[in-house]
Amino acid sequence: MKENKLILGFIGLMMSGCLLAQPPVSDPQMDAFVSDLMSRMTPEEKIGQLNLLAVGFDVTGPVLSKDAEAKIRQGLVGAVLNTYTPEAMRKLQSLAVKESRLGIPLLFGYDVIHGHKTIFPIPLALSCSWNPGLIERSARIAATEASADGINWTFSPMVDIARDPRWGRIAEGAGEDPYLGAQIARAMVRGYQGDDLGRSNAVMACVKHFALYGAAEAGRDYNTVDMSRIKMCQYYLPPYQAAVDAGAGSVMSSFNEIDGVPSSGNRWLLTDLLRTQWRFQGFVVTDYDAINEMSEHGMGDFRTDAELAMKAGVDMDMVSETYLKYLPELVAQGEISESMINQACRRILEAKFKLGLFADPYHGCTAERARRELLTPENRKAAREIAEQSFVLLKNDRQLLPLKKTGVIALVGPLADDRQNLLGCCGGGGDWQPAVSVQTGISNVAGSAVTILHAKGANLTDDPMLRATLQAFGEGIPVDSRSPEEMVAEALAVAARADVVVAVLGESSGMIGEAASRSDIGLPENQKALLQALVETGKPVVLVLMNGRPLTLTWEAGHCGAILETWFGGTEAGNAVADVLFGDYNPSGKLTTTFPRNVGQIPIYYNHKNTGRPYQGDSANKYVSRYLDVPNDPLYAFGYGLSYTTFAYGDVKLSQTNLIGDQTLLASVAVTNAGGRAGEETVQLYLSQPAASVTRSVEDLCGFQKVRLRPGETREVTFRITPDNLKFYNDKLEYDWESGEFIVRIGGDSASLKSVTARWSKQAAPAKTP
Ligand code: BGC
Repeated sequence: MKENKLILGFIGLMMSGCLLAQPPVSDPQMDAFVSDLMSRMTPEEKIGQLNLLAVGFDVTGPVLSKDAEAKIRQGLVGAVLNTYTPEAMRKLQSLAVKESRLGIPLLFGYDVIHGHKTIFPIPLALSCSWNPGLIERSARIAATEASADGINWTFSPMVDIARDPRWGRIAEGAGEDPYLGAQIARAMVRGYQGDDLGRSNAVMACVKHFALYGAAEAGRDYNTVDMSRIKMCQYYLPPYQAAVDAGAGSVMSSFNEIDGVPSSGNRWLLTDLLRTQWRFQGFVVTDYDAINEMSEHGMGDFRTDAELAMKAGVDMDMVSETYLKYLPELVAQGEISESMINQACRRILEAKFKLGLFADPYHGCTAERARRELLTPENRKAAREIAEQSFVLLKNDRQLLPLKKTGVIALVGPLADDRQNLLGCCGGGGDWQPAVSVQTGISNVAGSAVTILHAKGANLTDDPMLRATLQAFGEGIPVDSRSPEEMVAEALAVAARADVVVAVLGESSGMIGEAASRSDIGLPENQKALLQALVETGKPVVLVLMNGRPLTLTWEAGHCGAILETWFGGTEAGNAVADVLFGDYNPSGKLTTTFPRNVGQIPIYYNHKNTGRPYQGDSANKYVSRYLDVPNDPLYAFGYGLSYTTFAYGDVKLSQTNLIGDQTLLASVAVTNAGGRAGEETVQLYLSQPAASVTRSVEDLCGFQKVRLRPGETREVTFRITPDNLKFYNDKLEYDWESGEFIVRIGGDSASLKSVTARWSKQAAPAKTP
């Protein structure tokens, strides 16, 4: 077999001792193998390794690659995206390993974002669990399933910090905070890659979208980004760096520009920062067609784009085929050096080596394994548990929730009996048919003493333009042909016969994710009208939300008895929603993005600066930083989330209040479960430095701990604070800390914290002369 030829050739080479000169990398075996292989490659074959083609069922842009199979045979393809299933992958892989001259295996990339066949909640929801261990577990299961289905490379984690909920892709990230974002980035890389990429159940991670993609102006996808270096270092770059530090095998350059140069042509970003400063060892792939898109950005023709991208540090070209087309002539004319091509090729071959593809190009994937490992009962069980932990209870007046397992429930809303939307925006290879609707979940959990009366009540949207757009891209939403009035009337009729109304409302999955920016982030008008009619009945209304971004919910918060944010919960969404509604699981999720009162407040985020004229609640003062028509504070703050029990916080106690140098400060707080049910609380630590050489955020998250408490139980929660927690980027972009006063804040969300102050100096004050 051809794949074995490579290994045998390599062993021979090792034995003859004729190793070629190696770059300074840590694995001599890999170096020798790759060098030998490269010594036998033509320049065209090397450029072929840099070519990533879209072949298959799913595309997120125009399909630009034709005659893929012929190219694979010619050694002109290094990787494909969107091909999976053992059959499809094995077919293409065997073309590469058996019918191309050198038999170099392909990478198989795919957007495995929050599960492969067993779909977990969308990433924004996962982040609300504040549980990196749990998120790692979801990524591990995703990797096991994806690799069993022919995938060896996932375009995840997406770690873009986002402060603008108009941007649909806020759904794909971990929210607005760099500290939490970094923890989650690491957890996901660990989950995908495990300890050893060579294991058949590991997939290589791809950190995206490098960088700052989440800061698109006005929240419009693919839009311009403009940001100071100090802001990017402090707030936007840490999660990418954490993923790189965790050993992510690849990084994806983003669509946006940075400092006037698109990421895919930005040498500062891809070489100075990523390679020189962060010591990234893997390879860089562009986002879909991003090399060519540099022309539209205004960087010149495609040939110029290819040159820019190669010189910036892009190793692999996703679908534009610009490298394949122009690199040979750029090399021939001396505009690109051969050593650059060699370096990019080497990085890609190294990734293949680490994945063990030269030994087993199929990465242990067989049809039998896929049958055994996809969508297993254990994976579904994990998906249910993980979904439960991702929900956020936003309101619960007079303990309307949990519901009793008796009586009559009016279950209404376009998402009450829906399965098609539950996988969210980026459920990749998942199928909606096995997903559990809320209606089915309630029947599974509630028991026979509960009667459910169901009415759809409204379509997802009645906006003809929005509907047409979504349907044009195959993201159609089932449309009930009855008039809105008829549908509302039916819902009111069931509400009249019920003890409580559960309204399951929100966005459609096509309204979130890529290319799904919205300027109005409220519930669609027709759903809001349904909700208003239900509220007017006087029956208690529980609003169960499904959506992929913070919504503006000011009216809903004022009128519904309870609001449970369930995002898009994945395959087991309905069961998990029912578990929480009936109290089988006590909700514990906390928001990782701020919920604004209205769109005019955007961007609104907890770690903002103070300004020279902060508004401190004195409404008689006009000349302060405030709006005339809406308060400054959000509807729901970062870190916020209720439980069916309540948690009481004692005062914050410090081990000392004057610290010097490398000392450690212990900050403790007693947390008591003051309610009648066991529950889990995420205790959050924030730090502020009111005076420094540059302005600081009003507070920054620096730690969190989850504690599970029985009713009446008290636990002392202690955080260790070291000078590392005090560091920030100064105006020279040095990452260091400065002596001064620090406010230590601890509590259950970013807006309700208890605080104490400490002084921390770099050096002891000189002794006073008498
Ligand atoms: C998206 C990426 C994705 C890629 C491949 C692009 O349009 O921006 O996030 O990984 O397509 O599907």
